Amino acid sequence: MGFLGGAYLWVLALHVIFVIFLMAALFMMPRFFVYHQECEPGSPEIDRWIDRENKLRSIILNPSIVLVWVFGMVLAAHGGFWLDGWFLVKLALVIGLSAYHGWVIGYMKALRRGEHRLSGKKLRLLNEVPGLATIAIVILVFVKPF
Ligand code: HEM
Repeated sequence: MGFLGGAYLWVLALHVIFVIFLMAALFMMPRFFVYHQECEPGSPEIDRWIDRENKLRSIILNPSIVLVWVFGMVLAAHGGFWLDGWFLVKLALVIGLSAYHGWVIGYMKALRRGEHRLSGKKLRLLNEVPGLATIAIVILVFVKPF
């Protein structure tokens, strides 16, 4: 056992709790964008979607991604996984997910300016990205195939 001792399972539990919050928010936000984009320009419903997106970002999405990283890095230091194949691939995937998070925030700001950069169909397709990353990450952390 590494330096966490008996706190290891608590840190693991916190990591997984915030992983669930993060992934839920990453799944929800592009859905919000689809409904937001479908509103009539200038309608009061647009302000309500902007408000929902702001709340999802500031209450769930941003705090969760920070806490997932913090607890994840503590677990990695505890286990000394830095050079393990599964961990390096997981790290590459979570860096990709963090870039996706950055894209979500950028799209949210563009939408607020009235820019509809992607069609609803493309937004729905992009929604598959966090799902596919989750499948790969969960297999990596549990099976540790390499
Ligand atoms: C953001 C950077 C992240 C780092 C540095 C990180 C690191 C880690 C480490 C070191 C462990 C412990 C593995 C063990 O003790 O065997 C772990 C567990 C876990 N991670 Fe992450 N993680 C991160 C993000 C994520 C994300 C985004 C997901 C899901 C999409 C995820 C899902 C999990 C799960 C399900 C476990 C539990 C595995 C178990 O019960 O042993 N992690 N993570």
